Amino acid sequence: MQNVLEIKDLHLSFVSKGKEKKVLRGIDLDISEGETLGLAGESGAGKSLLTLSIMGLLPATAEIKKGGIQFQGAEILDNPGKQASLRGRKIGIIFQDPSASLDPLYRVGSQVAETLSDITGKRPEMPQILNLFSRAEFKEPEKIVFRYPHQLSGGEKQRVMIAVALAGNPRLLLADEPTASLDANTGAQIISLLSKIQKETGLSILFISHNLPLVEQIADKLAIIYAGRILETGLTTELAKRSLHPYTRLLFSALPDPGRKGKPLATIPGSPGSGLNSRISDFPSTEESGCAFYQRCPEKNLTCCRPEPPLIEISPGHRVACWRIKNEN
Ligand SMILES: Nc1ncnc2c1ncn2[C@@H]1O[C@H](COP(=O)(O)OP(=O)(O)O)[C@@H](O)[C@H]1O
Ligand SMILES: [Mg+2]
Repeated sequence: MQNVLEIKDLHLSFVSKGKEKKVLRGIDLDISEGETLGLAGESGAGKSLLTLSIMGLLPATAEIKKGGIQFQGAEILDNPGKQASLRGRKIGIIFQDPSASLDPLYRVGSQVAETLSDITGKRPEMPQILNLFSRAEFKEPEKIVFRYPHQLSGGEKQRVMIAVALAGNPRLLLADEPTASLDANTGAQIISLLSKIQKETGLSILFISHNLPLVEQIADKLAIIYAGRILETGLTTELAKRSLHPYTRLLFSALPDPGRKGKPLATIPGSPGSGLNSRISDFPSTEESGCAFYQRCPEKNLTCCRPEPPLIEISPGHRVACWRIKNEN
């Protein structure tokens, strides 16, 4: 199956007053046609900046230091015009907060109509608009199109954003924490709607969340991100059975807590920002950098006192970055 998206050794930093803050540190990911890749990791890991890198919507102070992103086989990072032309067309996006993307002053039908007219250059016909609302599972689209955003629930607003994303007939949908502002039931409905749309259209999805048990429900393949690096990746069925990285196991066991939306999972002690340069300071070592998860790892031992572990293939498609695993195999 052809890869729709390939991210290769992507490094991204913020540089301010001569100081560099590394945010993505060598990300490799790919998504094939019709596949859902779930990207999970705590807040601050770099998930949204990865999405913004694909879309070409990075803040001005962010710099891509190295690497590439290919969409349908063509490099897009060296071509801002190409990224702009894909955005909202072949690449759709839905974010955590649909209210931020909807204009409160316009009826939702007009907002979908405007997207359609931007894409086609023609005024859309009403049946086209209603069709998009039906595909986003509105039972009475002819009524919903005349509503203003404030007249809709959070789940309905997110479904309007899905209708907007579908207007461009995307081949890839980036869903960055699309259920984080919703209650668990509504979030589950959004996930089943995305799965249904995927089956109908064969599009690929990058589904991002801090909540791994949630990502597991929709993803064919998982990638676990921590401090700007992938710590483990493989088929969801494989990782659910045999996750090798201690962080993946912690994320799997962290129960979703609706009271802590968008925040780090409560059950993992420590925080990712424990200082990349001092992370192995309690070892008698002169190494400046080691495993980013070292400080918080419940399974660390002396073998971890080495430079940052590379992502190594343990079995076909299952890769893990942990010195202990390498030593055991
Ligand atoms: N404009 C910015 N300037 C400096 N640092 C930023 C900026 N935006 C994000 N960051 C930092 O980049 C890291 C990754 O952020 P982000 O991609 O939003 O994480 P996630 O989506 O995984 O929660 C965080 O440490 C965050 O503080
Ligand atoms: Mg984010």
